[in-house]
Amino acid sequence: MNLAITGATSGIGEYTLKNLVLVFNQLFILARNKQKAENLLRELKIDSQQKCIFIYCDLTDMDSVVNAAQELSNHCDQLDVLINNAGGIFKQKEFTKDQFETSLAANHLGHFLLTQKLMPLLLKAKGSKVINVSSEAHRAARVKFTDLNYREINYSSFGAYANVKLFNILFTKSLVDKYGSIGLKSYALHPGVVKTNFGSDTSGVFAFLWKLASPFMISPEDGAKTSIFLAKSELPESFNGSYFKNSKAIQPSSSALSKNMRVKLWTKCEELLADWL
Ligand SMILES: NC(=O)c1ccc[n+]([C@@H]2O[C@H](COP(=O)([O-])OP(=O)(O)OC[C@H]3O[C@@H](n4cnc5c(N)ncnc54)[C@H](OP(=O)(O)O)[C@@H]3O)[C@@H](O)[C@H]2O)c1
Repeated sequence: MNLAITGATSGIGEYTLKNLVLVFNQLFILARNKQKAENLLRELKIDSQQKCIFIYCDLTDMDSVVNAAQELSNHCDQLDVLINNAGGIFKQKEFTKDQFETSLAANHLGHFLLTQKLMPLLLKAKGSKVINVSSEAHRAARVKFTDLNYREINYSSFGAYANVKLFNILFTKSLVDKYGSIGLKSYALHPGVVKTNFGSDTSGVFAFLWKLASPFMISPEDGAKTSIFLAKSELPESFNGSYFKNSKAIQPSSSALSKNMRVKLWTKCEELLADWL
């Protein structure tokens, strides 16, 4: 069994990887910082280190995402689990070299492209899974599909983050719509409010509130539990496409359940990523 994970160089992803390296035979660490990936590997036992392969992948650079999927496919002919875990909240509106707003690219577009490029490998494995790390912040989303890159509308870091975390759930459900009947499983999750590097690049009210909440946050080890549960468990078909918190399926917002929104999002993402798909 093999697994690919983004965002394993810090926080929740790091502890997800450290647990799952004991279960999977081969693990692909898709990360933008080689040094951090090497430091992570050094913390593992030698036999675990030997199971891991670092692949450079910057989710805000779509060429690098395409190259990462290509490199991964040189190592294996099927993929059992993909955990789209990387992400973050960004202080100000900035655009990537591909002219996407950064939080949209880092939290959603990069993973959309990565998943699509890895789909042939995922569909070759029986009961393969795509696990998307979302957030309860998705409940605050207010999406304007005509301006996903905030060219016209006002940007707020929390507003942009809430929207992309909604996209993670809509994406999960779209994957089940499109590939569920041919065996793909997909789940989204909220990891808890977790003490990680998350929020370190913010200012203003959000940064203040996040700092206040810090003593009450759970550890990254605990924050990884739902991702680990989903990667390890074989769940009944009725859970396919569900949203989890504390390793239990819960109801997401009504927007997250909207077929109209997920179809719109998928179409928009295909348009935005047309040069890479
Ligand atoms: N912490 C929370 O309370 C909380 C709550 C709900 C949801 N989440 C979600 O949990 C996930 C993990 O966050 P965390 O709390 O563990 O935060 P974190 O400690 O900041 O880790 C974020 C990870 O994402 C990676 N990453 C960020 N931008 C990237 C990019 N452009 N390309 C490739 N990798 C990139 C980071 O890589 P570097 O090491 O190179 O920076 C790091 O490995 C995120 O999706 C976040 O939205 C967190």
